[in-house]
Amino acid sequence: MLCIGLEGTAEKTGVGIVDSEGNVLFNKTIIYKPPKQGINPREAADHHAETFPKLLKEAFEVVDKNEIDLVAFSQGPGLGPSLRITATVARTLSLTLKKPIIGVNHCIAHIEIGKLTTDAEDPLTLYVSGGNTQVIAYVSKRYRVFGETLDIAVGNCLDQFARYANLPHPGGPQIEELAKKGKKLLDLPYTIKGMDIAFSGLLTACMRQYDAGEKLEDICYSLQEYAFSMLTEITERALAHTNKGEVMLVGGVAANTRLREMLKNMSEGQGVEFYVPPKEFCGDNGAMIAWLGLLMYLNGTKLKLEDTKVIPNYRTDMVEVNWIKNIKT
Ligand code: ATP
Ligand code: FE2
Repeated sequence: MLCIGLEGTAEKTGVGIVDSEGNVLFNKTIIYKPPKQGINPREAADHHAETFPKLLKEAFEVVDKNEIDLVAFSQGPGLGPSLRITATVARTLSLTLKKPIIGVNHCIAHIEIGKLTTDAEDPLTLYVSGGNTQVIAYVSKRYRVFGETLDIAVGNCLDQFARYANLPHPGGPQIEELAKKGKKLLDLPYTIKGMDIAFSGLLTACMRQYDAGEKLEDICYSLQEYAFSMLTEITERALAHTNKGEVMLVGGVAANTRLREMLKNMSEGQGVEFYVPPKEFCGDNGAMIAWLGLLMYLNGTKLKLEDTKVIPNYRTDMVEVNWIKNIKT
């Protein structure tokens, strides 16, 4: 069985085709480069309307469209205008191909593609991207959020600081490069509240340091040390709480070497395995949507066209998991 997955929750469009054995036959993403002020949701949606037809054309050059059995799309969480374009493309495709449609939760798709492309089976997942920051584990038939950001996502914190310091978007990789040359650890706020964290105080403090003429390399170094230590601490706490034997890092920020190093050290210290999926499957992609769509559909989830409305605040724990059979929790 072949499923085509459409990802379009924020500023990227992705199309992936996956078979029911988990082979990825096609996977391509196009990013919308926002202007200096950041993402304008309307412009991101225009980008989606423009790029989905191109991606679909390319995908159907690799796999004959008549071989597709299922259409999956990212139903949420995300920006309303981006989600609506994605859902419209998915509905059109489902009606044209006369194949069933299924809406999936974007955050859970990150976890499932991570499990498919690594040896992780039942991990505690740290999901870090431009729009999300969550520590998630499967317990009692749901993926539950054990810790999360109380304000902005860590990737957004990095991107906003980069923009402030006139670095190109996305800021994460730029900050990582500059941080390698930083030496001085500045005094910045470290905000953990129970199992949750917050980044806006850290962001404002970095902006103040920049205004005060502190060296950019030292600010980038300190920003990473503070932000990633906070993430590592809540992941470690959740590990103690859930007793999972594996830690998995997913999302665009998972590309960062320093964050990987901190989590790997923590995992080794706790005697658990540490996994990061290949880069192609860390950030947003269509294959993850297709794969979760297949898992749900093959385990009995069926969606009527009228139930395909987008869910901008789709929480990770709103989905009743029907595809995990062999994990007792
Ligand atoms: P989501 O919809 O899941 O929130 P997203 O739209 O933010 O995802 P991703 O590709 O998952 O897309 O993540 C992009 C984020 O990853 C950006 O904030 C970017 O700065 C950050 N990022 C990418 N590479 C690095 C890196 N090397 N170090 C730190 N952050 C990085
Ligand atoms: Fe994502």
